[in-house]
Amino acid sequence: MNIRTYALAALGTAAVLLATVDASSPRSSPAAATIARGRALVVYGTCNDCHTVGWRNTDGAVPESRWLTGSSVGYRGWWGTSYPTNVRLDFQVMSVDRWIQAVRTRGGHPPMVWEDLRQLPDSDLRAIYAFVKSLGPAGAAAPAAIEPWRDPEVPFVDMRALPSPPAQ
Ligand code: HEC
Repeated sequence: MNIRTYALAALGTAAVLLATVDASSPRSSPAAATIARGRALVVYGTCNDCHTVGWRNTDGAVPESRWLTGSSVGYRGWWGTSYPTNVRLDFQVMSVDRWIQAVRTRGGHPPMVWEDLRQLPDSDLRAIYAFVKSLGPAGAAAPAAIEPWRDPEVPFVDMRALPSPPAQ
């Protein structure tokens, strides 16, 4: 081997090393990119507005460790009173396929944004799931939904002025 061959061999090794480092660094791995995409979709999709206590009245100053842990502020309307669930716990027991199925099949039940989420491709729904799952479980379950004829505890958001959907 002459000096030129050595230099080329060294360069080749450096390139392989660089490629290895790059592939294993968390910033460039597909999982990290998916999680980052999921985080952006969660924030822009306003999931915290309902599912995170204090998000709206602190101008979003809630640490990520408490994001999406559910709320006991109900939403009361023709459907009864529903509570934004603890998504951190939901996703511990709900598979990603079950989540996608829920988005694709549920709707007409405010205020959860099913009709908006349905516009996203599966890859984005998977990214949302991956981000929430990466946060791990936290908090307690939100209160169970209440039938339309029962009065919920306060506080609740009164959406009873909202007309019910026309009979199909
Ligand atoms: C305007 C308030 C509101 C917003 C915004 C909102 N949700 Fe919800 N969400 C609810 C309520 C209320 C429920 C419970 C009633 C229901 O399941 O439809 C719920 C239910 C859920 C559930 C439980 C589904 C199940 O089958 O058990 C998941 C998961 C969820 N939301 C995720 C999200 C995600 C992710 C976002 C952001 C893209 C989001 N929500 C935005 C209010 C909201």
